[in-house]
Amino acid sequence: MDEMVDAAPNFAPFCSEQGTPHVLFVASEIVPLAKTGGLADVCGALPTALARLGIDVRLIMPGYPGALARLDAPRQVADLEELLPGVSARLIAGTMPDSGLPVWLVDCPALYDRPGTPYQDPRGCEWEDNAQRFGAFCHAAARVALGQAVHEWRADVVHAHDWHAGLVPLLLALSGQLRPRTVFTVHNAAFQGNFPFTLAAQLSLPQDVLTPEGIEYYDQLSFLKAGVRYADKVTTVSPTYANEICTPEFGFGMDGLFRARRADLVGILNGIDAQQWDPCTDPHLSHNYSCSDLRGKESCKANEQRRLNLNVDTSAPLAVFISRLTWQKMADVLLEKLPAMLTLHPRLQFALHGRGESALEAGFAFMAARFPGRASVQIGYEEGRAHRLHAAGDILLHGSRFEPCGLTQMYAMRYGTVPVVRRVGGLADSVRDAGIHARGASDATGFVFDDATGEAMESALSRCIALYERRPKRCSELRKQAMSGDFGWARSAATYARIYFELAGIRIPTRSRRMPTCAELPWIASQSDDCEAAPPQAR
Ligand code: ADP
Ligand code: GLC
Repeated sequence: MDEMVDAAPNFAPFCSEQGTPHVLFVASEIVPLAKTGGLADVCGALPTALARLGIDVRLIMPGYPGALARLDAPRQVADLEELLPGVSARLIAGTMPDSGLPVWLVDCPALYDRPGTPYQDPRGCEWEDNAQRFGAFCHAAARVALGQAVHEWRADVVHAHDWHAGLVPLLLALSGQLRPRTVFTVHNAAFQGNFPFTLAAQLSLPQDVLTPEGIEYYDQLSFLKAGVRYADKVTTVSPTYANEICTPEFGFGMDGLFRARRADLVGILNGIDAQQWDPCTDPHLSHNYSCSDLRGKESCKANEQRRLNLNVDTSAPLAVFISRLTWQKMADVLLEKLPAMLTLHPRLQFALHGRGESALEAGFAFMAARFPGRASVQIGYEEGRAHRLHAAGDILLHGSRFEPCGLTQMYAMRYGTVPVVRRVGGLADSVRDAGIHARGASDATGFVFDDATGEAMESALSRCIALYERRPKRCSELRKQAMSGDFGWARSAATYARIYFELAGIRIPTRSRRMPTCAELPWIASQSDDCEAAPPQAR
């Protein structure tokens, strides 16, 4: 699997004679400093891939205590006074513990030193002052981008992620200076950061942006709208999702706004950190393996069955679900259908690892008790457990009502676990269906269903189990096909780099150090681009 390591020689490195853009990544969570989901994975891995391409990329994130504790070489570099009325902070510089990239943390204990997640208290309720928490963060990021906090570095391009960073494009647009250009990435349009208008003064926002043409959204002010409305370029995390959010079904009320920005909206499929997620070397696994020798995977499965009190039987199909337990992920549908699935397929085993809505957590735990030896439910989230389950599984169940990209299906494929997914967003762009009786495309990598129903999910699962039980040779080919897909970041990072060069007005190098051409980046779905708009089903 060495050839899958994230370094496509065609795309490395391409800084021009005029230099390379200075890019500031603004995100509320970045692996390994803080993580609640895929946003953190992306904001950890993409900058590393960009740095490999020669981009000068630096990161900024709120200074949660866990992040401050993990930061390498921390030192205070600035006082950030009056970020908001009555709110000041310290800017701590350091380096990322894994990649060594420069990172700034905004240290403000009054806002960030709390139990729970970056967004919620330990009972799962949103922090009441989230507008101030992320508003202050956005002001801090804008100051850093403009060179007002640390004077030796200034951004040419600011890449802000999701609603938590949504005010940054607005603040920079208002800065009235020769400002950095801005890219805003929508990782999930369902999370919008909408707050009462009355908070505008506390967020130091001028009245004249509180209009429908500005950031007003149904009598509230919207961080997400601010990002989408004011960024120079808007991206989302898969080509299909870029199209979907322009429709009422997937736009969560913002589809009109996305349509208005369609010419500047591009869908770029996420990658995964191919070194962190590599079954050949993964230190979390009891046995390592590769697509040329899957014996280690079988041993991982037996060990995990033992650990999870499942019947130890490596010939029984093991379906895994590793996800937030939420409506988005169709966890409710799965919970309802699972007893029927286990009854219909008497050898099927099921293992879940994740946390989320408390009713779903309780429901899955109750269901598992009804199927001793055949169902295991581990509520919570631990990175090592997720890796082990990806290795142990035969099948990944991944229904989603909407899925901007989804990383879990890519992890599964890399670990030879066949994904059963709904045809939405990045799932549609990354999994190729095996067809009925798996007689379809020889480059198939999984099973895809259309409707957000238990019946559709069950029928795709049945196709997968039939292949597993009746056609083991074909099943093994499918696994290997899935494992040999290229899910690294090199190509998509090159696409982002190209956007930064264009926005920064830095000439793209022509000869040996060249940017990828459109033909080499066929998954770009931009109406403003000369490329073909239609993305392939997988890459
Ligand atoms: P999303 O970000 O919508 O949850 P992704 O598939 O993009 O979905 O990313 C999920 C990431 O979060 C993966 O790294 C996965 O291992 C991890 N993860 C899965 N379940 C949980 C959970 N309950 N809590 C935290 N992280 C989780
Ligand atoms: C969001 C989306 C998920 C995506 C992730 C990273 O959490 O729900 O689909 O993979 O962001 O972009």
